[in-house]
Amino acid sequence: MATLFDPVQAGDLALRNRIVMAPLTRNRSPNAVPGELAVTYYRQRATAGLIVTEGTAISQQGQGYADVPGLYAPEQLAGWRRVTDAVHEAGGRIVAQLWHVGRVSHDTLQPGGGKPVAPSAIRAKSKTYLIKPDGSGAFVDTSEPRALEASEIPGIVDDFRRAAKAAIEVAGFDGVEIHGANGYLVDQFLRSGSNHRTDDYGGSIENRVRFLFEVVDAVAGAAGAGRTAIRLSPVTPANDASDPDPQPLFERVASGLGRRGLAYVHVIEGATGGSRDFQQGETPFDYQAFRAAYRNAGGQGAWLVNNGYDRELAEEAVAEGRADLVAFGKLFIANPDLVRRLKENTELATPDKTTFYGGGAKGYVDYPAAI
Ligand SMILES: Cc1cc2nc3c(=O)[nH]c(=O)nc-3n(C[C@H](O)[C@H](O)[C@H](O)COP(=O)(O)O)c2cc1C
Repeated sequence: MATLFDPVQAGDLALRNRIVMAPLTRNRSPNAVPGELAVTYYRQRATAGLIVTEGTAISQQGQGYADVPGLYAPEQLAGWRRVTDAVHEAGGRIVAQLWHVGRVSHDTLQPGGGKPVAPSAIRAKSKTYLIKPDGSGAFVDTSEPRALEASEIPGIVDDFRRAAKAAIEVAGFDGVEIHGANGYLVDQFLRSGSNHRTDDYGGSIENRVRFLFEVVDAVAGAAGAGRTAIRLSPVTPANDASDPDPQPLFERVASGLGRRGLAYVHVIEGATGGSRDFQQGETPFDYQAFRAAYRNAGGQGAWLVNNGYDRELAEEAVAEGRADLVAFGKLFIANPDLVRRLKENTELATPDKTTFYGGGAKGYVDYPAAI
């Protein structure tokens, strides 16, 4: 029977245990460049079987929050190189989460102060995080987006490709995870609530999954399929994501992914950071059928689950074979040595929510390891 502490292979990635650090935006990269604090933060957490970085913008247009790091300028890549070197020196593995926020952004973050882009010109009932001129942070409403022209889509797919290539070849990452979850651009195309297009990218399921597969194929072509992964959140309402019938949509996504030889599929079960039982539509989402659609299509990548996992639930998921890997978010913020604490079943520290987004070392690199 597998345990959380057994090694596992995820595509080309050999992981020393099954405990994954979930992607966590921390808004501490001024000018989109991860600095020395980020090096310390990730190094402290390198005993995870795999670290998924915070969402990292593939382009300036993909930026949605203040002080989020990027993968589109040389100094950003150099900053990440220092992070990946530190994690590798500590024996860890790290993948970059490739992020385009779509409509979850603000004019002030966009190139030339323009409107954020989206499948359709529908504003998300959602907030973004900005830093005001006096240096303090604030949550503000997202801006009105504009609908992408079909002719602009290949350029965005190419931004994903370029970011993936640079992540591997320049920044030294072990792989990349496409952010297909939580109501951001890829998810905005998938769900009917945010996608009212009447062209090849909207309407039928086949059309709404098109952008996702174009991105996956471009990224896998640049990074190698065995170093490419994707994060999905079939029912989350995060960032105003909605679809009344997620089961056939996400089974279609799963079967398409199954044919593509990816490293892993990362699934947020329920409402991100909320109820694991959350549902959209009439019936509870069937995660077993979702996974079966992936396996039946030939998918051999690792199955990574997340959302509200504690030690017991995670051990059970791995022991029962429901998951190959489990990602922990908030627990990794407060417990840099989470792997050891789970193994020794020692007490877990509680994260301080007031320092999640923005600021400096406090609440970022000053959580101690257990003695
Ligand atoms: C501070 C914070 C930042 C987050 N940033 C991201 C992110 O950049 N990308 C992402 O996919 N999810 C992000 N999430 C969601 C987490 O990865 C995770 O899905 C969520 O916290 C639930 O897992 P947990 O119960 O183990 O914390 C964030 C969550 C928190 C609390």
